[in-house]
Amino acid sequence: MKIKNIILTKIFDSRGEPTLEVTLIAYDGTRGVAQVPSGKSRGSNEASVVPFDHAKRALAGFMPIMRRMNFASPMVFDKFLIARDATPDKHRLGGNLMLGLSFAFARAMAAEKKQELWELLEEYYFSTKSMASRPARPMIFSNLINGGVHAATNLAIQEYIAVAKPIGTPTEMVASVIELYREVGNAVRRRTKLRRLPLGDEGGYAIDFQSNIVPLEIIAASIKKLRFDNTFSLAIDAAASEFFKNNKYYFEDKQLSSAELAEVYGSYFHRIPSLMSVEDPCSENDAKGFGLVHARLSDAWIIGDDLTVTNADRIARYIDDGLITGVIIKPNQIGTLSETCEAIATAQKRGARVIVSHRSGETEDTAIIHIAKACAADAVKIGAPAHERLSKFNEYIRIFS
Ligand code: PGA
Ligand code: ZN
Repeated sequence: MKIKNIILTKIFDSRGEPTLEVTLIAYDGTRGVAQVPSGKSRGSNEASVVPFDHAKRALAGFMPIMRRMNFASPMVFDKFLIARDATPDKHRLGGNLMLGLSFAFARAMAAEKKQELWELLEEYYFSTKSMASRPARPMIFSNLINGGVHAATNLAIQEYIAVAKPIGTPTEMVASVIELYREVGNAVRRRTKLRRLPLGDEGGYAIDFQSNIVPLEIIAASIKKLRFDNTFSLAIDAAASEFFKNNKYYFEDKQLSSAELAEVYGSYFHRIPSLMSVEDPCSENDAKGFGLVHARLSDAWIIGDDLTVTNADRIARYIDDGLITGVIIKPNQIGTLSETCEAIATAQKRGARVIVSHRSGETEDTAIIHIAKACAADAVKIGAPAHERLSKFNEYIRIFS
């Protein structure tokens, strides 16, 4: 595919932070548009994010060369970007610019071939996957109560997640998530005098609680009340890098070691039987802690996010070392579509779980749902079913129905 023009637009994400929209126009007039999300609890090894003017200048610098080339596939295009940048953290071009370009190119190519984005991704990146052992449709991880840096509350744990299993039609599944979100809202509202509940960065309810386990108890009780026991499990994202300082975890007025924190998680899994998954239980600088949590919770999904940052090498190392059993995949942590798909393949080859995820600063872009379909991911993590997050839920219904 030959590129005629690229338009960069400064847009704003769901937190009101500036981000990028990339429109790529191919020679035959076909367009691909991509919007880049941004995160707040970022891993320190994520691809660089550059300001809009930097991205504009960087693009102008290689636009003439790019116009002369003919890119045979998304891989060839991404390789070109990676070679132009040539830095480990993508600070020359910016991971945000590279990701926007990478996805806009794939979208334009899919349009040219009259394919859905997921069909193109499947063809180029996941054609050899064995579907036999893969789920037909991903679970939906929906974050109903927000804490940590996503909410101005007393919760150390960042995310309290209802996990909808792929039972019934996609529409029924999403309707159940919405019903549960409302019921949890009622339960949370009863604990406050507020008529309107404050929401966190990912659309979950955001108030103070007596302790970090209470939100789990509330969601579990709501699941029971709605008789959703068979359709929902629970998960948490501790995002523990955010409360780790001087080798201690600052948790509920205590300073805990990794082993003590692992005990806390152990008690949560014991008290809440439907709890199945914990993400970033320890800091990105405490890989050993992940091992302790894994040893303590042998049946749980132990998921890396800040630890692994969608980087194939890190994913391989931490799975092989037995520290994690699954990974969060966030394309903007690594900066190109090809490297995102490589990260997924690396995890899947090792039998690890793959959860394709949004960021706290989201846009209307739905590419993550297409990635999840192309790779037959175990789950998508898309926040609360409200406001700007609904575009992901609706795309889930559209492409899995
Ligand atoms: P983010 O983090 O705020 O960086 O998007 C979300 C997460 O930790 O999963
Ligand atoms: Zn996380």
